[in-house]
Amino acid sequence: MDKIVVVGGNALKGRVTISGAKNATLPIMAATLLAKGKFKFHNVPNLQDVRTMARLLQMLGAKVEHSGSDVDIDTTTVESWEAPYELVKTMRASVCVLGPLLGKQGRARVSLPGGCAWGPRPVDLHLKGMAALGADIKLEHGYIEATAPRGLKGKRVYLDKPSVGATENIMMAASSAEGETVIENAAREPEITALAELLTGMGAQVVEKSAGVISIVGSKSLQATEASMIPDRIEAGTYMMAVAASRGNAWIDNCNPDNLSAVLNKLVEAGVEVNVEGKSVQIRMEGKPEAVDVTTAPYPGFPTDLQAQMMAFMCEADGASVITDTIYHDRFTHVPELRRLGADIELDANVAVVRGVERLQGAKVMATDLRASAALVIGGLVAENTTEVSRVYHLDRGYELLEEKLRGLGADISREKE
Ligand code: UD1
Repeated sequence: MDKIVVVGGNALKGRVTISGAKNATLPIMAATLLAKGKFKFHNVPNLQDVRTMARLLQMLGAKVEHSGSDVDIDTTTVESWEAPYELVKTMRASVCVLGPLLGKQGRARVSLPGGCAWGPRPVDLHLKGMAALGADIKLEHGYIEATAPRGLKGKRVYLDKPSVGATENIMMAASSAEGETVIENAAREPEITALAELLTGMGAQVVEKSAGVISIVGSKSLQATEASMIPDRIEAGTYMMAVAASRGNAWIDNCNPDNLSAVLNKLVEAGVEVNVEGKSVQIRMEGKPEAVDVTTAPYPGFPTDLQAQMMAFMCEADGASVITDTIYHDRFTHVPELRRLGADIELDANVAVVRGVERLQGAKVMATDLRASAALVIGGLVAENTTEVSRVYHLDRGYELLEEKLRGLGADISREKE
């Protein structure tokens, strides 16, 4: 297994280009199952999770070809409707094939994703949505068995929580249902808008009628189409925090600053100089950041996927910052590891109090998930001496060319065999 070795202390400078969004790409790839034909996608990040989704589509019978950041998917030969445990257990987002399989083929057998390193992460809202559209749902031997032999029918669906994955699954199923589906209390993340645009391009009518209310009018003749992935706002936010934490001065290119308002506002509050020019954002930090409080919330709130990185940034802040995760109450596996780097963090349920220390110190650390690993890399970039972050495969799931991009900004970072 590989590890990342970082020698801390370099201020990050220069420019870094953001890749296509992982969390937009995965449901869009799943949506190809709604039509038979040849899809063309651009600006697709080369990531482990994207390769896992490609493998799942191939197992279902699709042909997938990668060429640089282009991906061609041919679904003409898709025949299977089963997403097996072996794949779903490696990537929870595999569950987003449920809606498209059910919509197109009238049946789906998808392994229940199970828990992850930070909590149970249920799929009840996905199932509630499918049932509302007329599917018969059974849970058998660890699998979701969903059938709709007479096809799905549009309905009003209210989500108890604005779940991103449930909204996506219901949008995809509804795109091939008869009539109109209205999702109330739907997620509003930019990845939802990207999926809505794809489904509209395929022939469904998907419109956000008002904030959190999405109307989908299905079509029985959805067609293959072409699309370009939106920039990854979580990758962009991660680099912003890395640059700020290192007290550097760099431009984050090819991002969408409008999708990052909550993050940019918090950075400004912490004393970071932020300049927006079109699709680029300059991040400049001199001296210690001010401690700021952060509470994660569904979009347009502060993303839970940047909570760990923000905590790493706050570890050397002036004062105490209170960081609360309201989306995933257990998402704090980075806390004991940041403490190994010398951070002063007190954790009570889903609230962490981070008291800024003078300087983090390099250590051997490991993380159990993607964003926690990113937080440890940020910790390593600012810490004294050397930090080794093991279990790099987590980072490979979600950050394209992480070391290359950070080296381009002047970081002393490399990948070594453990
Ligand atoms: C997506 C993102 C993930 C991000 C998360 C929250 C992808 C591939 N992943 O995950 O990176 O951290 O959004 O922004 O896009 N919930 C239920 N029942 C359900 C579904 C969810 O109670 O059926 C709860 C979850 O436990 C959680 C909250 O709803 O507390 C939000 O989860 P959700 O938005 O569904 O996250 P994902 O779509 O899995």
